[in-house]
Amino acid sequence: MGDMEPQHEMDGDASVWGRLFGKQDELDSLEWGGSALRFTLSEEACALISRQQVESWLTYGNLRYPQFSLSHGGEPVHPSSYTRPRIIGEHRHTGCADPHRVAAIIDQGATLSMTGIEMWDGRVAGLCAELGRTLAARVQAIAFLTPPDRYGSAPHRDAAHVFVVQAEGTKRWTLYDLPTGDDWTANDMPGEDTVTREIELRAGEGLYVPMGMGHRALAGSQGSLHLSVIVTTPRLTDVVQAWAAQVSAVFGGQERLRINREGRADAIREVLRRIREAPVDVEALVAAIEAGASIPDVAPSLPWPR
Ligand SMILES: [Fe+2]
Repeated sequence: MGDMEPQHEMDGDASVWGRLFGKQDELDSLEWGGSALRFTLSEEACALISRQQVESWLTYGNLRYPQFSLSHGGEPVHPSSYTRPRIIGEHRHTGCADPHRVAAIIDQGATLSMTGIEMWDGRVAGLCAELGRTLAARVQAIAFLTPPDRYGSAPHRDAAHVFVVQAEGTKRWTLYDLPTGDDWTANDMPGEDTVTREIELRAGEGLYVPMGMGHRALAGSQGSLHLSVIVTTPRLTDVVQAWAAQVSAVFGGQERLRINREGRADAIREVLRRIREAPVDVEALVAAIEAGASIPDVAPSLPWPR
């Protein structure tokens, strides 16, 4: 994180943050990439999802795995135990939600995750799109429904900043340390001796979890429904890939190294020389990185009535 990430990326974007944050002074104290922050949700954020909506999506939303999935404390349940094939027209679609079996497995203590809600719900899409455009980053939304007194996951780290929107029930968050340096992976589990905070989140409250901070959460006695709004900033390696794709245009698609190893090092030096001399279109790199963020589109209007 460190040098590359300015600390106040939310400055001057009060309107979009106001869609998540209910209080300006709490928004002002947000320390991007630094520490976790509990905050009061805006009215709009409070109304983003509900249990009723989750039930409706499961039954009538024509969702297919992996748009939704079940897990026990982070251990995935095999999708064949909660999906079914459906015939639509003459097409057989597999992996479709079987709401009765989903409910039965949730009743046994499993957490339901619904991924990519911004792809099928207009209000969530609108929020993610505006945040995504403002931050020039990828913004996705995942809902988590966890039964009473169950953990939604094992302790883990996410390679993204997360804004938790507690919609119903409560969840007790255990927060661990931030990783040091930039070379950690999501598999670098936080140790139990690195717990930094415990925060109980009630409906109407939000929580900012900085990228990489270890966490897990335990649902309260009434269960928990929350929406995670996930902000993924572009990696520097994404810039390298975009540049590599651009510089590839200098080479013919069928230009190849000669057969056998003889002279291969010199041939590679020549390739590197051509790369050094290749023009770099920085604006095109910016556009390529932005395209990779897949910011949700605004729904187009139908062409009539005019
Ligand atoms: Fe997480």
